[in-house]
Amino acid sequence: MTVTIVGSQLGDEGKGGVVDLYGDAADVVARYQGGDNAGHTVVHDGEKYKLSLVPSGAVRGKIGVLGNGCVVNPETLFDEIDTLRERGLDPDVRVAERAHVILPYHRALDGIEEEEKDDLAAGTTKRGIGPTYEDKAGRRGVRIGDLLDPDTLRERLEYVVPQKKALAEDVFDKETGEAFDIDHLYDTYREYGERLAEEGMTVDCGTFLQERIDAGENVMLEGAQGTSLDIDHGVYPYVTSSNPTAGGATVGTGLGPTVVGDGEVIGIVKAYLSRVGTGPLPTELGGVEGQTPDYDPDEGAGEDEEELATYIRDEGGEYGTVTGRPRRVGWLDMPMLRHAARANGFTGLAVNHVDVLAGLDEVKVGHSYEFDGEEILTMPSTTEQWGRCEATFKSFDGWPEVDWAAVAEDGYEAIPENARTYLEYVSDELDAPVYAVGVGPGREETVVVENPYE
Ligand code: IMP
Repeated sequence: MTVTIVGSQLGDEGKGGVVDLYGDAADVVARYQGGDNAGHTVVHDGEKYKLSLVPSGAVRGKIGVLGNGCVVNPETLFDEIDTLRERGLDPDVRVAERAHVILPYHRALDGIEEEEKDDLAAGTTKRGIGPTYEDKAGRRGVRIGDLLDPDTLRERLEYVVPQKKALAEDVFDKETGEAFDIDHLYDTYREYGERLAEEGMTVDCGTFLQERIDAGENVMLEGAQGTSLDIDHGVYPYVTSSNPTAGGATVGTGLGPTVVGDGEVIGIVKAYLSRVGTGPLPTELGGVEGQTPDYDPDEGAGEDEEELATYIRDEGGEYGTVTGRPRRVGWLDMPMLRHAARANGFTGLAVNHVDVLAGLDEVKVGHSYEFDGEEILTMPSTTEQWGRCEATFKSFDGWPEVDWAAVAEDGYEAIPENARTYLEYVSDELDAPVYAVGVGPGREETVVVENPYE
């Protein structure tokens, strides 16, 4: 069967920990969208591994697949694989022949366009994600399969590179170097193709996964980022360029919707909100310069709120894995979660970081929005409208700091009562049962209520 793991907010909900936890029962872990913009840290046998592209399951001896919906930077891919090998692991990573390749000019253009966009900048990770998906949709992309076929690679580069060079030089008035040089790109990427072929890494993703399922194996489909960063269902234009929502799991792997729908879809929820990047955030606490729109630290939200924001940011380690940027933080946003529950059809929830809020007297959630004088329970369709929404808060009594490792061992009933009240509210509102509760960073610090593979 398949289990699909989806971020229900703005990324960084702790999906990696859940993939890790349930991934034990999986034989294959496949990513279905995104690229090396998705940072995750895996702790295995006391060792920490920071990965941004390779599926975390590969650290634990599973087959890791990068699906056709991914955009793949071969430099990052091989760097990560080589680092894992140097540390004594033998990761088995497969890459879809239909996945698109991030080339150096995509990264360069990501940076250039973000600077140009000013207020419309999404605060991207500058990994070239958007420009690569643009070329995919514009039918001028280079796919992994093309790297294995030098003539096709040459033909694709000869068509696309002069356009990219003209864009950088003539439209954006930038100097270009070898990132825009056909011969250099051809030589470098042909070599990547040779290595992919030598190591037998490329697959027809849908066929590969379907064969595994037919053989009775368990497949996990791992989404990166989160629902509100989805290009269709998120807060456009402050989004990533792919579909982290569950629908992406079918298009981005080549498995049919009935196959994915036959399995489970687990929404990963962080017990509060964090956001790296720009755009509105109705339940935000305090602000972060350069990310919170119109943020003025001298005219901030008040000392108490700033202090609370800093407390949650530090307790939760809310600094980007890929970029190191401090993340914006806020209370849980229920309209955002209701939107996610509908768009993804969650069959279960994993609520993470419940320990981070421990010790606060009061925990709030944005229960609904006030929008143009009316109460609404879900997100409006345009981001301009979302920016006009004011959260109406609901208050919960806080829960104490406890020995979370003991709680994880003892099970759900050992979670402090006020925290359970909070969890049950979320579960009721989203009409989905809580399958797991994260109470600490390690994978043993999770209260498992239900294992979807059992
Ligand atoms: P891109 O994916 O690099 O193009 O960035 C687009 C938007 O998605 C920006 O607001 C990023 O901060 C955000 N983003 C991309 N990847 C992640 C992630 O893994 N976690 C959280 N935010 C992300």
